[in-house]
Amino acid sequence: MKTTRKDFIKSAAVLGIGSLSMSLQAKSGFISAAPEGIKPVNGKYSLPALGYAYNALEPFIDARTMEIHHTKHHQAYINKLNEAMEKEPSLKNMELEEILMNIQAQPESVRSVLRNHGGGHWNHSYFWTLLKTNTQMGPKFTKLVNNSFGSTEAFKKEFEKQAMRVFGSGWAWVLDQNGKLIIITTPNQDNPMMEMGVSPDQKGKPLLGIDIWEHAYYLKYQNKRADYVNAFWSVLNWDQVEQNINK
Ligand SMILES: [Fe+2]
Repeated sequence: MKTTRKDFIKSAAVLGIGSLSMSLQAKSGFISAAPEGIKPVNGKYSLPALGYAYNALEPFIDARTMEIHHTKHHQAYINKLNEAMEKEPSLKNMELEEILMNIQAQPESVRSVLRNHGGGHWNHSYFWTLLKTNTQMGPKFTKLVNNSFGSTEAFKKEFEKQAMRVFGSGWAWVLDQNGKLIIITTPNQDNPMMEMGVSPDQKGKPLLGIDIWEHAYYLKYQNKRADYVNAFWSVLNWDQVEQNINK
């Protein structure tokens, strides 16, 4: 059955997820930081600007990795997504979040492309907003963490454990379930918005996520994923996370 935005809002309301305003972000009950470029213009998606230099995250994430990740990997997801949009003109009237929330209802000819490349575009657009050095965990997130995990240390340990458990490529997410934080992982470019791969009790508003694909860290960290995950704390934009709580 197709999930409409209205249905999603209803289920989000039942779960008490977020405060729902009429903005696109709130309408879905999901989007916590709709980045620039996430909406198609004339039926085409485009690469969003990072808003910071490729070397801004040094020495934790190197400039070369950021440039390739942004201009090659992210661009490739967008290119494939746009090819699917060309094949199925009906998609041009839908926003990406709507497509992803109803992925099973999309035409079979483009469904896997939408899942993998539409998911890739959304995930990366979201991820870029979460990166900035020299920020501190805010009071609202600290409170959520303490209520859900007991301490910041326990939260970080659990997040790192989950990130390390991702087999192959995927993402780890921190979701807000009406004041309770949960950590989930998704394979490939799936995300918590998608109806498959994420059970109902794993739904919630994403406050942050980490890209666990090797392309996010291999040049600097090679096979040492743990070092990359640990470095993530030094580039996580806690100001954005704090803002995401209110969206
Ligand atoms: Fe990536």
